[in-house]
Amino acid sequence: MTDTTQGAVRHFLSLLDLAPEELDRLIDRAIELKRMHYAGEDFAPLRNRTLGMIFEKSSTRTRVSFEAGMTQLGGHAIFLSPRDTQLGRGEPIEDSARVLSRMVDCIMIRTFEHEKLELFAAYSRVPVINALTDMLHPCQLLADVQTYRELRGDIRGKTVAWIGDGNNMCNSYLNAARQFGFKLVIGCPEGYEPDAAILEGAKGCFEITHDPFAAAEGAHLVTTDTWVSMGQEEEKNRRRKIFGGYQVTSDMMAAADKDALFLHCLPAYRGEEVAADVIDGPQSAVWQEAENRLHAQKALLELLLIGNE
Ligand code: CP
Ligand code: NVA
Repeated sequence: MTDTTQGAVRHFLSLLDLAPEELDRLIDRAIELKRMHYAGEDFAPLRNRTLGMIFEKSSTRTRVSFEAGMTQLGGHAIFLSPRDTQLGRGEPIEDSARVLSRMVDCIMIRTFEHEKLELFAAYSRVPVINALTDMLHPCQLLADVQTYRELRGDIRGKTVAWIGDGNNMCNSYLNAARQFGFKLVIGCPEGYEPDAAILEGAKGCFEITHDPFAAAEGAHLVTTDTWVSMGQEEEKNRRRKIFGGYQVTSDMMAAADKDALFLHCLPAYRGEEVAADVIDGPQSAVWQEAENRLHAQKALLELLLIGNE
């Protein structure tokens, strides 16, 4: 067996790695796994399976949802940080991927450069999951779409407003607009648009404006994210000034559809990208959204590890 396995293994580096029908079924399955969990059903298809979790950035939800998800499915997860593995001491990514993927059944990675994740995946014998890069955060979108479906039904044909930074979450919303068939209206400051290649791929599924109120008008879902993503801490003061007019407020929510939901991947900064009365208000579904990370990722693990067995 060669040590470059590109093409032979199914990875989840982007929402575009699954077909729209597979994504649709995955969301239904996440809802079913959630029901089974609440019913106390014993479902342990990943007995004796191990997930390696590499975190080069901080995490609360992603780490706990993957680890608890593996436990619930009968498997096990190992937390790997660059501080106490050879990953932080310069062992080549290719070598780390070759070694780890001979020991575990799936690897989840949170890192900076998306290319690093792609390189790891190219040398991995087992599925690799993107748990956030500077470019994309596809696992979060599974939970977001699940939450919308649970509360309002199919997101197909709906309008979603993205307010704020054209960051990894916004890029992922663009891919989701393509795959799930909704329209994304992005309200961002000039110079903070999402990735050009991702925009090109999502042609026909989005609009961009620099007026956040116009973006929110009539939207069925309003969503935002921090103005300062991990790795941008030095730009904090400048970003706070530039994004000052891009807070999701109750006035903005009033411009959206009357049944609009508010979602936020979290962690949230009240008084910056979102007003407290919005995130803590009746249209907000952020706690259900956070919980759904657990169920959506269980559906993803099931698909990648035993889906085709
Ligand atoms: N939303 C999200 O990915 O949260 P964490 O950074 O806590 O994992
Ligand atoms: N855009 C944020 C998302 C955190 C879950 C970041 O990359 O820090």
